[in-house]
Amino acid sequence: MNITVVGTGYVGLVSGATFSEIGHNVMCIDNDDKKVAMLKRLEMPIYEEGLDEIVRKNVKAGRLHFSNCIKEGTEFAEVIFIAVGTPPMSTGEANMSYVERVGREVAENMTSYRLLVEKSTVIVNTNEQLKRTMTKYLKNDIPFDIASNPEFLREGTAIKDAFNPDRIVVGIESNRAARLLKEIYEPIVKKSGCPYLEMNIASAELTKHASNSFLAMKISFINAVSRICEITGADIGQVAHGVGLDKRIGPQFLSAGVGYGGSCFPKDVDAFIRMGDECGYSLNILKEVQRINASQREHLMRKLQQELWVLEDKTIAIFGLAFKAGTDDVRESPSLYFVPKLLEKKAKLRLWDPIAKGKFDQDHPGLHYFDNLMECADGADAVLILTDWPEIKQLDLDQLKKNMKCPIIMDGRNLFDPKTMAGKGFTYHCIGKKQAVAMK
Ligand code: UGA
Repeated sequence: MNITVVGTGYVGLVSGATFSEIGHNVMCIDNDDKKVAMLKRLEMPIYEEGLDEIVRKNVKAGRLHFSNCIKEGTEFAEVIFIAVGTPPMSTGEANMSYVERVGREVAENMTSYRLLVEKSTVIVNTNEQLKRTMTKYLKNDIPFDIASNPEFLREGTAIKDAFNPDRIVVGIESNRAARLLKEIYEPIVKKSGCPYLEMNIASAELTKHASNSFLAMKISFINAVSRICEITGADIGQVAHGVGLDKRIGPQFLSAGVGYGGSCFPKDVDAFIRMGDECGYSLNILKEVQRINASQREHLMRKLQQELWVLEDKTIAIFGLAFKAGTDDVRESPSLYFVPKLLEKKAKLRLWDPIAKGKFDQDHPGLHYFDNLMECADGADAVLILTDWPEIKQLDLDQLKKNMKCPIIMDGRNLFDPKTMAGKGFTYHCIGKKQAVAMK
């Protein structure tokens, strides 16, 4: 089938590439000419494991095309996925102008039936707004459908997730839309055996916000428990293990740490709260999720300050700038909180990240970046771990200690065992466990 995907960010590009890999003919549209030119040269605008191979293979096979022209995309396919950004505005509200523009431009250019599918994360009942916009801008009385097909991909494992989803959710209100979407997803459903859920459009839209908010809540819950652990002498690793083995709870998303980040959870929790307030049901539970998340960063900062007393002129090595391992994305990353705070306190920073430093540097030029972890820790008064990169766990700890001025580790990701660290001569602070003091 011919498919158009508008927007070549994480969701759009991964979806377009996946659709082409399962045999569809795909045109990916973006109004950013530079991005389109890059993609035509087979250069990826984002880092996502396995993405470049799939894109290269399908472009060569003639199944994947890129264009900056929405008219071309509208003519190309009966089904058009909207995967443009909905970034937060200064008010905290999601900016829906890109979604609206796609609806308007498709309506102005279509000459026969089109199915417009919301893939971007949108608040419930966005489909109604989209329908109104389409109707306003259509030149003739051409039939169209709106559907919702939220995306549950995780950055870093997006390709794997796309071929092996936990479920596929589609919100539809006509047989024609149902038939088209089923045909698109049939190869993935057949191969992976995943559940394929058809529901009304509002339910599909809501499923996405409810899923992300629930996951964020799970993280904030375990982070709250971690604070109780610190006060009472319990160990969050052991508690989370014990809790997670209950099949009704499950072990995932119970890693306590410096708080969730990324382009999705913070924005989606915020949007869900706003939506609740607007429709007259206050989601106070999620306001608490946000408060706990912010307090995790502040708490680690306080511990660092207490450990070093004065931060001015202290050398802090920061391990990890990305919001999680496996991605170069720094949006809402803990590093965006710590770096300005430490600079304000006149600390000297040495920064390391295997792939995110380019993106971080765009907004933080003039800082000292290192390719090598050991070099980054050279002469440091403390190391601050902010991302769960596997390279950090593989470090030669004896060498690390020799390289640092003071063997102090502030670990926002609980990568090491406190007792081992104390045995190696480190003062080791992490989240939800007793601080380990260097054994000399
Ligand atoms: C998240 C969801 O997991 C995807 O299902 C969803 O499709 C995506 O948002 C989206 O809406 O597009 P992602 O933002 O890629 O995916 O990242 P996650 O792996 O969910 O991690 C989010 C944050 O939570 C990271 O900062 C991570 O470090 C943190 N986290 C995760 C914890 O602090 N503890 C955990 O136990 C798990």
